[in-house]
Amino acid sequence: MATVFVVANQKGGIGKSTTATNLAGILGQKAKTLLIDADPQGNSSSTYDAKIDDAATLYDVMIDSEKLPISEAIQHTENGDIVASDPLLVKAEKMLDGDVEGFYRLKDALEGLEGYKYVVIDTAPSLNIILYNCLIAADKVIIPVTADAYALQGISQLYDTIMAVKRRQNKDLSIAGLLLVRYAGRSNLERDTREDIEKTAKQMGTKLFKTVIRECVKTKEAQENKRLLIDYAPKCNTCLDYIDFSKELLRK
Ligand SMILES: Nc1ncnc2c1ncn2[C@@H]1O[C@H](COP(=O)(O)OP(=O)(O)OP(=O)(O)O)[C@@H](O)[C@H]1O
Ligand SMILES: [Mg+2]
Repeated sequence: MATVFVVANQKGGIGKSTTATNLAGILGQKAKTLLIDADPQGNSSSTYDAKIDDAATLYDVMIDSEKLPISEAIQHTENGDIVASDPLLVKAEKMLDGDVEGFYRLKDALEGLEGYKYVVIDTAPSLNIILYNCLIAADKVIIPVTADAYALQGISQLYDTIMAVKRRQNKDLSIAGLLLVRYAGRSNLERDTREDIEKTAKQMGTKLFKTVIRECVKTKEAQENKRLLIDYAPKCNTCLDYIDFSKELLRK
């Protein structure tokens, strides 16, 4: 069975998709890795240049009554293997409502996945049924945070959600850690916030990863060019940091 990492934080625009895509790309250099885009916005699918129309997506795997085997929804792109998202995923709440197995669709689907060592799931900025599906299917949660005044806003809600899933549906779930992303490190505020984040991580029974992901303009550029940093700008700070982060993540 693959190790399943979920990148989650219901705060929008903090670096989930950037983390998920670059992590999947780096892990993919070592072992067979699948990226799953569980966000209807489809930013990871876009970075991977995956097809959404005329292609099987996570919608067909999770929501459609036919329940397509996940292997049939994998696209092999130049950046790596991906199950793309579909804007129709916003309908998940309604379609899975009232189905006792509605929370287990992704877990069930991943049971049929063979040959992958790692699965990385990118999630949407919301605490909805898709996120529950991801947490129930996962081994470890990576929580990206930025070092700004609102960095920890909503984090206790996310923590409660993870703990509720751990108690009831997935006892093996754990928080791998909080990951400080888009770090410029220039202001005192950033440095103070970093200490607060470290404290919060401890309170959550987890850690702040030692590796901090620094900002770099190449990040956005790579995304616009539908490429990953390891291939587009392997020497830029953000890429070097994601490489260190992936090592730290896998270290026992
Ligand atoms: N290390 C970095 N250096 C520079 N820009 C970055 C970095 N990480 C992320 N960004 C930029 O920040 C923006 C938000 O990042 P991203 O899309 O990964 O966030 P997100 O949490 O997935 O957002 P959403 O909640 O909408 O899914 C993007 O424009 C991205 O290019
Ligand atoms: Mg995103």
